[in-house]
Amino acid sequence: MFAPESFVSKEIEKIKKEVLGKAVIAVSGGIDSTVAAKVASGALGSEVLAIYVDTGLMRLDEEIDVQKTLADLGINHKIVKEEELFLDRLKGVTDPETKRKIIGKTFIDVFEREAKDFGAKYLVQGTIAPDWIESGGGLRDTIKSHHNVGGLPDIVNLKIVEPLRDLYKDEVRKIADYYGIPKMRQPFPGPGLAVRIIGEVTRDRVALLKKATSILEKNVSKFEEVPWQYFVVLLADRSTGVHGDRRVYGSTVAIRCVNSLDGMTANFTPIPLEMLAKISREITNGIPEISRVVYDITDKPPATIEWE
Ligand code: XMP
Repeated sequence: MFAPESFVSKEIEKIKKEVLGKAVIAVSGGIDSTVAAKVASGALGSEVLAIYVDTGLMRLDEEIDVQKTLADLGINHKIVKEEELFLDRLKGVTDPETKRKIIGKTFIDVFEREAKDFGAKYLVQGTIAPDWIESGGGLRDTIKSHHNVGGLPDIVNLKIVEPLRDLYKDEVRKIADYYGIPKMRQPFPGPGLAVRIIGEVTRDRVALLKKATSILEKNVSKFEEVPWQYFVVLLADRSTGVHGDRRVYGSTVAIRCVNSLDGMTANFTPIPLEMLAKISREITNGIPEISRVVYDITDKPPATIEWE
């Protein structure tokens, strides 16, 4: 049986011996980086800084939730607001891989600057066992090659500390419970909403998607069975709609809800039509720029979970 308390106290002693200087950790709001930050903080106190890079591409008020969690846990942290920089570098870019690369690179630029300012010599990472054990299927590899935080060690010139390296997700969850870390959100891609915006990522389009996402999340979180992942994609194509007696040329969004164990394969969630209809009406009533809502009924494979 895995005992979180003894794991944590041993790990804290180990870090105290190993880490002889300041450390930084990039936190994403996910469970692994939050738990790793808490363990490191137990060992190093204010000598470790948890950095959350606010790309402006996360969900509505996400940075506020992250800030609150870190503050409640007593972790020394900094929220670095860089929405302008990310949007600026993404201007005119529509190719999905290019978007991912720009976001990854910008993230690293910001993080490196912050690590240097803090005088860090060490980098704490929330790596867990499945992140480095060969999975054969390549999901981890695929995710990691895209993932902002996972890409850090090659670039940032700091000594790596990985307190959760030998743990599996269920063990990390046990530590999270032990610390009273609130239940984490559903899986969320590192590049954030940018890969759910087909075409150019602009401030207005991000704002539109944030609103639609928040309407979907509010509804779905009340379902008896909440899907593994549920989100909205803003499509590049526009379509005709009617507002009163006017024809408008509005945006189309797709709702995607899937059930999955690990993201390798997935089935679309058969949400009852009346629930979908309610969500669709809330989206089009609440967001006049959106004039059409469609539901994605494709499994993975053949589709991926994300659209980009
Ligand atoms: P796909 O779209 O490849 O996604 O079927 C499988 C799972 O991985 C998530 N995903 C990502 N996670 N960085 C991440 O951290 C990424 O770039 C990324 N792309 C996809 C996706 O949300 C799903 O849960």
